[in-house]
Amino acid sequence: MVAITAHPCEGLHGRLRVPGDKSISHRALMLGALAVGETRITGLLEAEDVLATARAVGQLGAEVTRDDDGPWRVQGRGLGGLVAPEDVLDLGNSGTGARLMMGILAGHPLTAVLTGDASLRSRPMGRVAAPLELMGAAITAREGCRLPLTLTGSADPLPIRYRLPVASAQVKSAVLLAGLNATGETAVIEPEPTRDHSERMLRHFGAEVAVEDREEDGAEVREIRLTGQPELRAAALQVPGDPSSAAFPAVAALLLPGAEVTIEGVGLNPLRSGLYETLREMGAEIREENRRELGGEPVADLAVRASALTGVTVPAERAPRMIDEYPVLAVAAACAEGPTVMQGLGELRVKESDRLASMAAGLAACGIEVEAGEDSLMVRGRSGRVPGGNTTPIATRLDHRIAMSFLVLGLAAERPVVIDDGRPIDTSFPGFAALMAGLGARLEVEAAP
Ligand code: S3P
Repeated sequence: MVAITAHPCEGLHGRLRVPGDKSISHRALMLGALAVGETRITGLLEAEDVLATARAVGQLGAEVTRDDDGPWRVQGRGLGGLVAPEDVLDLGNSGTGARLMMGILAGHPLTAVLTGDASLRSRPMGRVAAPLELMGAAITAREGCRLPLTLTGSADPLPIRYRLPVASAQVKSAVLLAGLNATGETAVIEPEPTRDHSERMLRHFGAEVAVEDREEDGAEVREIRLTGQPELRAAALQVPGDPSSAAFPAVAALLLPGAEVTIEGVGLNPLRSGLYETLREMGAEIREENRRELGGEPVADLAVRASALTGVTVPAERAPRMIDEYPVLAVAAACAEGPTVMQGLGELRVKESDRLASMAAGLAACGIEVEAGEDSLMVRGRSGRVPGGNTTPIATRLDHRIAMSFLVLGLAAERPVVIDDGRPIDTSFPGFAALMAGLGARLEVEAAP
């Protein structure tokens, strides 16, 4: 464990770039492996989660290399061309890595064993196993459909029409990836639209993906249809900065008086930008500059200024568009004026940790009033600096976003905030402490024993 202490500080200043988007990076490696030819990826996130996916893709026969000056290259095997791995595939901490990989494997006639770290091994895989079994995969897993699991895919997967029981881009993507090898059309129906990086990237590689918004039984739904057995052609990719990582310096800048920070090249896919929408509703000054497109994704520079925030109610239907940002939103809410109520948070209970429980416990330990329901959280803002000064280090529970959220809180507190372990941060945001220090943040990393 490597404890980190965040010391209260004043305004942050400067320009920075955050590392590449995690969701897009996983998909770039995976689709690169399935395409014919060499896929060159610039801006790939070089963090533990993505490196685990790169290793897994390599074990399946797609050579993955890094050029000395940065870009990565994947030598694709072509659809259906992956080979059986000789050893267990270890996806580390990553739900996206594990679940999307299951989708790919379901469309290949080979057997693989998947595992991950203690956090990933505690997360439910049944949501992905259920549709993949309908498509012809055979899956044997530990009790509760947890990893490790063994999956034998099918040479001839069945196309299905699948209505998602939970709003999950990972489940949607797993079904679409399995459907690549099916003859005919695979369809996924979403009750709430979730991030569409898979759909965008599949098109970029030459697949036919149709998207239709329509009404069904009086409710709006989105239907995504993939035409099976496309010819996936290798295509160059540029990965934008991760909006989920940008959220940490952005919220820190909002909370520290006098701060002015510009974060360059942030991906602003509309299905990922719920946090920024919410912060603006709370009174945040966040300007988008230099809007452009990068590899089929919208991107902009975010100019953020310290702002007085007011609590709001965040509706449940916004949850899929900001699902990973609730921990850092809760930190912003703690410093806002009045209560912030977040609804529809059931999925937070099955992320890298039970994030509802992690946030509620940590905020209370820092002197903030919270009320956690089964799928909601109320944070009573203190309108300015929060007490901080927790006596027992915040338990980060192998969860990178819990770790970074409480470090941001410490910067905006009256007394320091200490977390028990900063190492999980490397799963998504390598160099976080150094980047924040470059802006003027005071983060003290305990010397390794
Ligand atoms: C992701 C989807 C989300 C998100 C995760 C990344 C993806 O999970 O929480 O960090 O890359 O598809 P769910 O789809 O399970 O909500």
